[in-house]
Amino acid sequence: MENQMIRAKEVVFRYAEDGRAALDGISMGVRRGEFVAVLGANGCGKSTLAKHFNAILLPEQGEVYVEQYNTREEDHLYDIRQRVGMVFQNPDNQIVATVVEEDVAFALENLGVPPDEMRGRVDEAMEMAGIYKHREKAPHKLSGGQKQRVAIAGVIAMRPDCLVMDESTAMLDPIGREKVMRTVKRLNTEYGITVVMITHYMEEAVQADRVIVMSRGRIELEGTPKEVFRDSARIRALKLDVPQAKELCDLLREAGVDLPQDVISAEECAKALAALLAGTAQAKK
Ligand SMILES: Nc1ncnc2c1ncn2[C@@H]1O[C@H](COP(=O)(O)OP(=O)(O)OP(=O)(O)O)[C@@H](O)[C@H]1O
Ligand SMILES: [Mg+2]
Repeated sequence: MENQMIRAKEVVFRYAEDGRAALDGISMGVRRGEFVAVLGANGCGKSTLAKHFNAILLPEQGEVYVEQYNTREEDHLYDIRQRVGMVFQNPDNQIVATVVEEDVAFALENLGVPPDEMRGRVDEAMEMAGIYKHREKAPHKLSGGQKQRVAIAGVIAMRPDCLVMDESTAMLDPIGREKVMRTVKRLNTEYGITVVMITHYMEEAVQADRVIVMSRGRIELEGTPKEVFRDSARIRALKLDVPQAKELCDLLREAGVDLPQDVISAEECAKALAALLAGTAQAKK
């Protein structure tokens, strides 16, 4: 248990007393230093679960621990929020200042961190998120991906142990998405920051150490990307829609899998991906 960053035990959560459970008995853990991707159809409870990881929401039943702290312990709310930082979907909603470095400094300023220490932490966070060269720019002049990295820097400046990204790449173009993904991977591998990445993008999920697939408030599947994507029945459990399937096809083609140009069904995609991960795909040269 020592190396657990986050633990959820039998968590049940309902938004309305008489409503259906958005989380219906979730037990899971995230190890320190791990990169976990969370997948699942719209409305299956991913964001609800993420909000339990830094005490934005508290379980109706069950417990959530961030390291040794139960998220119900109000006395430790600061310890919990300092350890687990959240990055959301829309970068525009997360940016508050008119200059990048001021935005990154915002939370630290509110915490009363002394100015000389703040300078160092802000510079370090901007370096880590790869936006140092944009530090004097106006955030609204940056691309979506750059803005999202400003938001990441703002969280990193708090020196969290864990970053929870709730579809933080969903509104970005492919280049912005790729850069954010690379930044997050680097924060994980070079700086040891634990990452929980909620995403609809398969190319992001396959880069994780572990993939958790949710369905209707429960964990449906869990394992390494290879294990989870091994067979097509499992992929079908992901309930890919056609745009996702199309994207997966494009990805597979890029990876050298020889697919006919008109394959876009989720099922055909699933088969091709399973073949790729099983190492049996025919590489195209
Ligand atoms: N503030 C809320 N009030 C009432 N019900 C909510 C609220 N937020 C979410 N829900 C419901 O809880 C369930 C889980 O929602 P949640 O947002 O966690 O799903 P999600 O997996 O993040 O979906 P998406 O992929 O669309 O982001 C859904 O049925 C949703 O309609
Ligand atoms: Mg969500």
